[in-house]
Amino acid sequence: MKACLNTAAALLALLLLFSGCAVHIPADTTDPPVIVPPGPGDTLPVPATDTLPAETGAPETDPPETEPPAEPIPTFKADLSAYEIYMAPADRDGYLLLVNKTHPIAADSVPADLVYVPQEYAVYSGEWRAQMTSVAAGAYTAMMTELCANGYTDVKSTLAYRSYATQSYLYNNYIAEEMAKNPALSKEEARAIVETYSAPPGTSEHQTGLCTDMHNVYNRTDLELEDFEKTDAYLWLRDNCWKFGFILRFPRGKEAITGYQFECWHFRFVGRYHAKRIYESGLCLEEYLEQLDKN
Ligand code: DAL
Ligand code: ZN
Repeated sequence: MKACLNTAAALLALLLLFSGCAVHIPADTTDPPVIVPPGPGDTLPVPATDTLPAETGAPETDPPETEPPAEPIPTFKADLSAYEIYMAPADRDGYLLLVNKTHPIAADSVPADLVYVPQEYAVYSGEWRAQMTSVAAGAYTAMMTELCANGYTDVKSTLAYRSYATQSYLYNNYIAEEMAKNPALSKEEARAIVETYSAPPGTSEHQTGLCTDMHNVYNRTDLELEDFEKTDAYLWLRDNCWKFGFILRFPRGKEAITGYQFECWHFRFVGRYHAKRIYESGLCLEEYLEQLDKN
């Protein structure tokens, strides 16, 4: 299981090593439709309607007026004032999209506003550099800036947005790996194992561009993904990610509801208002949304 969970990072490392050779992930740029992220030099996400802040500085002009924050802004070591519009977006309820095994996403659904996250916070470069929707990428940038300001400088995103085609490749590859490891397994049995840690294509929230896998154990042959949980950087993220609008999407103890085993590396953007409530309640996203529906 652990070997399997060296998920996208290992597969994509292989892709990068062998690009042009036999190993081939279906190109996101052919199916589904072409994504045209910002060109070289665009390291900060561009909110759809707001002024672009410089990479480490404030916007050149005042950001447009947003609704006054409903709650106090957390205290940060870094100056993140230019990122407040991302962490606590004016469209408070606009980032609660639920994608899971019972709430699929269309195969041809591609977020319109994907941007690359800053290279310093991404493991891969070129077309495999992590991408998120613009607001989520801005909030991610703020979170990483503050993480670094707290002394944890080696966490990066391995993969964030994944197309239907990429998810399909990973999922089918995991099934093949499980069957190779245990030839007694039927394909259905292998599929059932895989679906505890990898979403069938069309049901992964990675296709929304609102989440990212992030850790500091990339390029480590002596550590598994799960080892990230033992690091102080993880503990900081677990307890502080809500300030930036993120939640730990697949918590321990909620496996029966989320459908997935605990993932210490997978963080999902929902905006600070809801992230704070999810963190404080201990609910997972499915439970929280159900509770919202009832209120
Ligand atoms: N690992 C998560 C569940 C995914 O494949 O989307
Ligand atoms: Zn993930």
